Amino acid sequence: MSKIWLTADTHIFARTPTPDKPPRSDIRCILETEAILDCFLHAFCTDTDAEILLIAGDLTDNGHAAEHKALLPKLRSIKAAGKRVIVITATHDYGQTHITEQNDSGTPPLSRPDGKVYRHEMHELYKDFGFNEAIADYPADPNTYAVQLLPNLRLLCLNDDGDGHEYCGYSPAQLDWICTQIRNAKEENQYIFAMTHHPTLPPAWIYPKVSHRDMLGGYETTPAVLADTGLHLMFSGHAHMHNIARIKTKAGNRYADINTASLVGWPGLYRELTFSDGVMQIRSRTVPSPYDGAYLRSVYEKDLRAVLDAAAHDYERFAGMLGGFSVTPERARKLKPLLYPLGKLIGSKAGTELFLRTIRNIWCGKHDLETIIQL
Ligand SMILES: [Fe+2]
Ligand SMILES: [Fe+2]
Repeated sequence: MSKIWLTADTHIFARTPTPDKPPRSDIRCILETEAILDCFLHAFCTDTDAEILLIAGDLTDNGHAAEHKALLPKLRSIKAAGKRVIVITATHDYGQTHITEQNDSGTPPLSRPDGKVYRHEMHELYKDFGFNEAIADYPADPNTYAVQLLPNLRLLCLNDDGDGHEYCGYSPAQLDWICTQIRNAKEENQYIFAMTHHPTLPPAWIYPKVSHRDMLGGYETTPAVLADTGLHLMFSGHAHMHNIARIKTKAGNRYADINTASLVGWPGLYRELTFSDGVMQIRSRTVPSPYDGAYLRSVYEKDLRAVLDAAAHDYERFAGMLGGFSVTPERARKLKPLLYPLGKLIGSKAGTELFLRTIRNIWCGKHDLETIIQL
């Protein structure tokens, strides 16, 4: 039985932080990213049943060349050990604010003094980690592609960068291509599932309300389109939460989005997939590293406590802290009539403990750890 490991949001940070510009934690470990990834990859390599590693985007902290330079040799070493690595890239993996900007300098990727990589350089950089295995790719953007994982199992690797800023999702033509691939797989008696970066179903009911932009654009309708075409299983990342969300369409088709935690944040879990007879068994496993669950949780809660403290005592500081949750300071100021009194309430000692307990359950509940999906 073939085993597949899946992780997301590895967020490799490989720059030297300066005192005036420390790395922004936003509830994940930053300085420990390489050490955690090394432990994870070592465990993957030593698991003789594990053949394929999937990474669902946000490979690097912020698209710096140094971060890709640190990550690429590690992925090459997995290939050298005879295993497969298949990735999608996402908006943290390149530097420019506008997706159409080009590297006109002629300087090769990873060599430019400005330090950041352009989006159009992703395909060449990561060609050995999925793109070169493509059995089909989306003509307008080959970062969206299909691979044959096992003799009867295909994976759609769906880049959802959108415009890279305000809208992350699939264009109508891209969605058409995706549906064609799903239909082709069915006609060719292939099982199929997909991975994308942004959640296609809300990982928690409150998530789209406070962080609408962090959902896949078109999430209100796209999952039903995919399910009714014949796709029943999607893996996503980005939220850094560990969650399983499901729908049943009006036509009666099932669809599940398995959102997987960041490798470098609490709860420190990855997904282990085993596929047999059209059934995907999905389990959660602890990332083996000295930075265990207790350590990851201490970082996660320290950051959340700092946010709550600011919400209760210094609203301007609070407004500036919400960038990590994709809430701009302007939006935070607009929400002040709602959030300020709430912050006062939650910022109390008892309120903070209750809030953290509630958030922990939303972030990673027991029912989100494993499931079985018929493809
Ligand atoms: Fe991320
Ligand atoms: Fe992301």
